[in-house]
Amino acid sequence: MNIVVLISGSGTNLQAIIDAVESGKIDGKLAAVISNRPEAQGLNRARQHGIETVVLDHTEYGTRDAFDADLLQAIERYQPGLVVLAGFMRILTDHFVDHFSGRMLNIHPSLLPKFKGLNTHQRALDAGEQEHGCSVHFVSSELDSGAVIGQAKVKIDANDTADSLSQKVQQQEHVLYPACVALFCSQAIRLSPEGVRYQGSLLPATGLDLTEDLTEE
Ligand code: GRF
Repeated sequence: MNIVVLISGSGTNLQAIIDAVESGKIDGKLAAVISNRPEAQGLNRARQHGIETVVLDHTEYGTRDAFDADLLQAIERYQPGLVVLAGFMRILTDHFVDHFSGRMLNIHPSLLPKFKGLNTHQRALDAGEQEHGCSVHFVSSELDSGAVIGQAKVKIDANDTADSLSQKVQQQEHVLYPACVALFCSQAIRLSPEGVRYQGSLLPATGLDLTEDLTEE
C-alpha cells in the first residue's frame, strides 16, 4: 500500500513511521512526504531515507480551495491507499476531506473527545485531569472529531508542566501512530458508517487502548 505523509514541522511522528516501515512493522511503502512549509525539518528526514518530497507552500495560494485542489492532485499522483497527517497544521476543506474519507488519519495530542484544538497539554493541566494522552483518528470534516482508532495514555503527575506533559505524550505518539498505521495497512482496521471496525467488530468511541509501558526504556 502506498502511503503519503503530510507534515508542517519537525516530523518526529514521520520519523517513527519511517522506522516502522524500514523494520517491517508496517506493510506499506512511503511514496512521498508533502509539506506546506519549505523549511519543515521533516523534509530532511524523508530525504535522508530516500523518500520523495514535495513542497506546496500555502502562502503562495490566494484561497484555501486553490491550495487544497493542488494538494489533492499532488497526493493522488502517488495513488495512496493511506494519507497520514503528521503535524500538518492546516485546516482542510470539506471537499478534500470527503475525497480521502476512510483513508486519511490524523494524530491529536489529547484523549479525544477531550481537548480538541490547540494547547491541549495546558488545558488538561488546567482542568485538573489525572491522565492525558494522544489519539489517532480517521479525519472527518469536523476538526478533531473523526472516529478514533486508538489512544495511548500518560499519567499526569503533580509537578507536570505543559512541556513535561508534551514530552511524555510525544513518546506515546511515536508508538501509537506507527501501530495504527500498521493496523490500517494490514486491513485489520476500517471505517464503517457506524464507526471504526477492528477485525470486523465495532470499536468503542475511544478506540483501542494502545498505551505502551515506556518506563523501562
Ligand atoms: C504532534 O504532537 C501531534 O500530536 C500534533 O502535531 C505534532 C507533530 O509533531 N498533531 P511532529 O512534527 O511529528 O514532531
